[in-house]
Amino acid sequence: MRENSVVTEPLAEAHPLHVLCPTFTVTPSAVAEVARQVRALCEDAAGTLPFHGWHHVSFVRSKGAVFARHNGADVALVETAALVHDVNYLVRRNSLAEDGRELRMRILATAGVPIAVAEHIDEVVCEAEMRTRNRDISPAAQALSDADTLFKALPVTPVMLAHRYLDENGVSLRELATKIVGEQRDVHTEGYYFYSDQAAAMYSRWATANLELWQCIVESLDDPSVAELLTAVA
Ligand SMILES: [Fe+2]
Repeated sequence: MRENSVVTEPLAEAHPLHVLCPTFTVTPSAVAEVARQVRALCEDAAGTLPFHGWHHVSFVRSKGAVFARHNGADVALVETAALVHDVNYLVRRNSLAEDGRELRMRILATAGVPIAVAEHIDEVVCEAEMRTRNRDISPAAQALSDADTLFKALPVTPVMLAHRYLDENGVSLRELATKIVGEQRDVHTEGYYFYSDQAAAMYSRWATANLELWQCIVESLDDPSVAELLTAVA
């Protein structure tokens, strides 16, 4: 990955939220404590979190920091948001980010994150959700979204991890394929699949191939011979 070329690009203009709320950051010790808690929770639940486990959380944290350095968002805040963005899957399978709010706020409070900052982190997490995000989300949410979206668009994800998503969330292949195409097609067509120009330049080909694959999967499931094949191997 050409991360160095990403972080040396000029910073984007500050988002209004940053102007209004310049103290929205997280101390290094609090970030470390949030990471410790989330990692422990993920490892305790490893058997039920084959997709959204610590491997996913740490990937999104790492890439979120790269994208935050590029777009001017607070790096520690984005890292913390990444650490708690999927705790809803610890609460209930196949759930939404908002379903993890109580646990998210408890983790942040235990780590000593001030309530106003914790509430902002929760807002950033909800802003960045693929299902509902729009073109105008905050830079912090953009950095988080790009990192989470990149994980979905990696060429290895459908091959190595999609079956884990099915197991973890108790959904069928048709349900997952329909969800992916339904949520991602419009943002891809409208040009904000990735918010960062660098992410778009580096990963759009992967994203396009990934989306085309999932569209083909949806179509293939209507072919009786494919349905028969899947029944045979189920
Ligand atoms: Fe995620």
